[in-house]
Amino acid sequence: MAEKYEGKTRYQDKNIADGYDDRRFVGSKGKWTHKREKECLEKMLEVVPKGEKILELPCGTGRLTEFLLQIGYKVTAADISDEMMEHAKNKTESFGSNVTFEKADIEKLKYKDNTFSAIAVIRLLHHIPTSLHSKVLGELHRVTKKWVVITYSNKCTFQNIRRNIVAMYTKEPRYSISKKQFMDEVAQAGFRAVEYLPILPFISEEVFVLLEKE
Ligand SMILES: C[S@@+](CC[C@H](N)C(=O)[O-])C[C@H]1O[C@@H](n2cnc3c(N)ncnc32)[C@H](O)[C@@H]1O
Repeated sequence: MAEKYEGKTRYQDKNIADGYDDRRFVGSKGKWTHKREKECLEKMLEVVPKGEKILELPCGTGRLTEFLLQIGYKVTAADISDEMMEHAKNKTESFGSNVTFEKADIEKLKYKDNTFSAIAVIRLLHHIPTSLHSKVLGELHRVTKKWVVITYSNKCTFQNIRRNIVAMYTKEPRYSISKKQFMDEVAQAGFRAVEYLPILPFISEEVFVLLEKE
């Protein structure tokens, strides 16, 4: 049975969805992060020929959906939040049938085995309780033909240590893990990590990893 957790319900609030891009991706730091994430994503996807269909899950407000379309992929964009996807639909209207949207829960995907050339899972794993990671990675392994680009939050970074101090007051849950734990989780799910790219080594908690299905 699918479980509830804060990161799953929070973005189904219209106010949170409406403010998402402006809270994170404006100002010099926000713009830098957005640009750097696009660079990392494109680098990881060098193994996937342009024109192939990628599942982007979660697509959120579509800031990376738009980018994937611009660089030449076809995209199935999915998210559990209709409120977030509404923004993504508006951003990508001009791409016509190259993009389709679907509501999906990453814990239980309705796609058949080996459906997509690649799956992009950006900024989600740290919202999911660690006890559910194997279930989620298992679903990704089932649905991809070969590749998954995923980000996780590395707990041994300056940003994460600072965030944990703040979280003592806000109680906002965040499931950061060590590199070893992440590598163990993906290996147990049947993946090999072939590329590892922190967005800003030692400082930023976010790490891009390219996984290949074994
Ligand atoms: C931090 S946002 C990231 C969105 C986008 N990938 C980005 O980088 O801007 C997290 C997203 O995960 C979605 N989400 C949370 N739990 C989910 C689940 N179980 N299945 C699918 N999407 C989920 C939320 O609705 C939200 O849009």
